[in-house]
Amino acid sequence: MLSIIFLSSLILFLTLPSHLESCSCMDFPTEKEGYCATSWISKVKVVSKETDGLGLMMSYRLEHLKVYKAPENVTLPEVMNTATQESACGQTHFKVGKQYIFGGSAANNDSLLITFCDWRVPLKYIDEVKLEMKPTWQKFVDSVGKCPALPTH
Ligand SMILES: *[C@@H]1O[C@H](CO)[C@@H](O)[C@H](O)[C@H]1NC(C)=O
Ligand SMILES: *[C@@H]1O[C@H](CO)[C@@H](O)[C@H](O)[C@H]1NC(C)=O
Repeated sequence: MLSIIFLSSLILFLTLPSHLESCSCMDFPTEKEGYCATSWISKVKVVSKETDGLGLMMSYRLEHLKVYKAPENVTLPEVMNTATQESACGQTHFKVGKQYIFGGSAANNDSLLITFCDWRVPLKYIDEVKLEMKPTWQKFVDSVGKCPALPTH
């Protein structure tokens, strides 16, 4: 319970860029904890990107090619937001037209959030040539079983 509260305030903190001078991330002690802190994982193509009027948030438009994880009752939306500043843990370098496997800590029907601190699927689970998960990924997911409930946003 404590760790859920901590995670919840951490996410809040990370989404408030003005409170951070440099991006520092909490480590995930185990793959299971990383996976469970990740609310969505998807193979996507980046369709476009733009910065909001204030220059604080960058918004990517995505095409979802294969969804690996999504919160219950949520259809992953095409909009993925991140901070424009790397010091605020923004992920600003993704390229339009390229495909990636992304994951992030927050998702609802309207938008996804990605930060530098989000857990990344370990490369050993990814066939980087085909950009898809290896069979060992499903074994890992099965071994994790049910994650403790994430805080909702
Ligand atoms: C998902 O939708 C089902 C059916 O409407 C509902 O029973 C369930 O509580 C929902 N789950 C969440 C996490 O909202
Ligand atoms: C997301 O949208 C679906 C389909 O419109 C809806 O059934 C579901 O309740 C929504 N989920 C949330 C968390 O709002």
